Amino acid sequence: MTNHIAAYIAEHQSRFTNELLDLLKIPSVSADPNYKTQVKAAADYVAEKLRSAGADRVEIFETAGHPIVYGEKLLSPTLPTVLVYGHYDVQPADPIHLWHTPPFEPVIKPTEVHPKGAIFARGSADDKGQFYMHIKAFEAMNACNSLPCNIKFMIEGEEEVGSVHLGNFCETHQELLKNDVILVSDTALIANDVPSITVGLRGLSYVEVEVTGPNRDLHSGVYGGAVANPINILCEMIASLKDEQNRITIPGFYNEVEVVSASERAAMNEAPFDLEMYQKDLEIATVHGETGYTTLERTSIRPTLDVNGIWGGYIGEGAKTVLPSKGYAKISMRLVPNQHPDKITELFAAHFKAIAPPSVKVEVRPHHGGEPVVTPTDTPEYLAAYKAMQQTFGKAPIPQRGGGSIPIVALFERVLGSKTILMGFGLDSDGLHSPNEHYGLFNYFKGIETIPYFFQYYAKLKQN
Ligand code: BES
Ligand code: MN
Ligand code: MN
Repeated sequence: MTNHIAAYIAEHQSRFTNELLDLLKIPSVSADPNYKTQVKAAADYVAEKLRSAGADRVEIFETAGHPIVYGEKLLSPTLPTVLVYGHYDVQPADPIHLWHTPPFEPVIKPTEVHPKGAIFARGSADDKGQFYMHIKAFEAMNACNSLPCNIKFMIEGEEEVGSVHLGNFCETHQELLKNDVILVSDTALIANDVPSITVGLRGLSYVEVEVTGPNRDLHSGVYGGAVANPINILCEMIASLKDEQNRITIPGFYNEVEVVSASERAAMNEAPFDLEMYQKDLEIATVHGETGYTTLERTSIRPTLDVNGIWGGYIGEGAKTVLPSKGYAKISMRLVPNQHPDKITELFAAHFKAIAPPSVKVEVRPHHGGEPVVTPTDTPEYLAAYKAMQQTFGKAPIPQRGGGSIPIVALFERVLGSKTILMGFGLDSDGLHSPNEHYGLFNYFKGIETIPYFFQYYAKLKQN
């Protein structure tokens, strides 16, 4: 049975690649309203491909933002139902000038870690290349009459802007979305020869701050030295948010942080990780982070605070001598289990206002957030993912927490009552959200090959 699927995939290999390339040509940038029609075009493309892959029912649900694509093939109420979640929206491509080839004109080139070629395009790894594997795996299972479970797809267009309308959609469509497990490919492997399953994601609190000094931009000679410069003050305030140990100084910030046991930490650090390669890849002399934790821990079980952007004053050509009226920054905090995004945002806002000197006014504007998640490893669905990867990689996958966030996953469990399996096939080095994002052809086809095994093992394990 599985041989038929493998043969089908091999036979249709070039079409499977070309269809993904066509999807990648659509600039479905969710953050920028100028791309609204292209986001819609991507939704239409996904819907059409779900239909041609064999879905019996496909629907595009409009939201107040970007549409949600739904598809299903239901075989029997006695079989388990797998809900595949993914996102067809992508991050903005800028800074465009740093791309070696245009972000929405996909090209295939080999790289050091992808000697068999990688597709360079915005969204190739995050997440078009990854969710499209599921549509092709579904096509293959269906064409070979080997679909062992009911399958539903929910592919959204707002993940990169915080999934603002998806929560409400889940709440109002609980019957439609009813499932036994949610399967997501939107995370990374440790390496192409080191398979892993993501067993946790960090949460997120995101704020924008505005610091106001004088009521207008001033001559920096006439007033400089006597009036607070809001950018200088903002920098001092930001610098004070971390101590010498690189611990975050916001009172109460760590109160709820899950304490991971020494044995669990030891197990985490067994995962292969080459610090030298990591530093070399990023061209940094050394890593930087919280004292007492390894790089793997710093990017998984520990919370962060990072400035994502900072601006104000004069940034044009040449020099303009100006003492600005305002300074701004966007700040993200990655959260770990038991930290709550709204609570952390409140703590941040209270602290940031408290540390502002009387010479400036401070405003804190919260953006979207998301809760952290940890997924269990003692479930049939985890075992199915484990066995599927073991089968296709020839090695047991390693459970590892991811540093990124998929805010909707925590809501899935609360509203739909099912667990999520994060079986991603990208690599951290694929340039997600960066210029020259790419996705290995090896990874794309490894995913398409592995997914049918997940379905088979899952169906079998649920039967017993
Ligand atoms: N696919 C990523 C999340 C991710 C990447 C998880 C790598 C684990 C490993 C997702 O598309 C993403 O970028 N999420 C955002 C969330 C935000 C926009 C609310 C993130 O993590 O910044
Ligand atoms: Mn993603
Ligand atoms: Mn992303």
